[in-house]
Amino acid sequence: MENMNLSKLITEKEIQKRIKEIGASLTDRFRDKEVVAVCVLKGSFMFYSDLIRAIDTEVICDFFGVSSYQNSMHSSGEVKLTLDLSTSLEGKHVLLVEDIVDTGLTMNYLQHMLQTRKPASITSISLLHKPAAKKVDCQLDEVGFEIKDNFVVGYGLDYQGYYRNLPYIAEVGNIN
Ligand code: IMP
Repeated sequence: MENMNLSKLITEKEIQKRIKEIGASLTDRFRDKEVVAVCVLKGSFMFYSDLIRAIDTEVICDFFGVSSYQNSMHSSGEVKLTLDLSTSLEGKHVLLVEDIVDTGLTMNYLQHMLQTRKPASITSISLLHKPAAKKVDCQLDEVGFEIKDNFVVGYGLDYQGYYRNLPYIAEVGNIN
């Protein structure tokens, strides 16, 4: 792996505190409802696993695979479905869990795709949001942290498959 210059942006403690807050608000929203919590692979696996444990009501877990970056730091602009859900969403309340909204293309694609499956509602959550990078609109019900338009890794987010296992979020500086 190339030598990357990483600087810590959001600590493990800050992430876990924010997840508890979001989890508490989702618990209120989803109590006594039939909920499918959709993890968008690969980037949101870590956020998703912490978030669903912070939701104190029943949820069905399912997984959606998409790819849009193809090993670079820039979105290809084309979203590819790599794994479909195994649960019917018809009449159910969907919790869509993303790691980061950058251009908004992936979230927009996912929301349109899920809408065709006739859910009762879609609640969209992203751990990170880069408002300055926006190209298309997408509805976000909760955001963990708004960040600048810099490439970040860690806590599920990768660069060429690496750094997903960092327990914090780091900004990527120069590539040597
Ligand atoms: P968007 O379609 O441009 O909003 O990008 C969404 C997807 O691109 C996310 O689900 C991530 O997988 C990836 N992505 C966007 N920005 C970053 C970043 O700063 N670091 C790592 N992955 C990113």
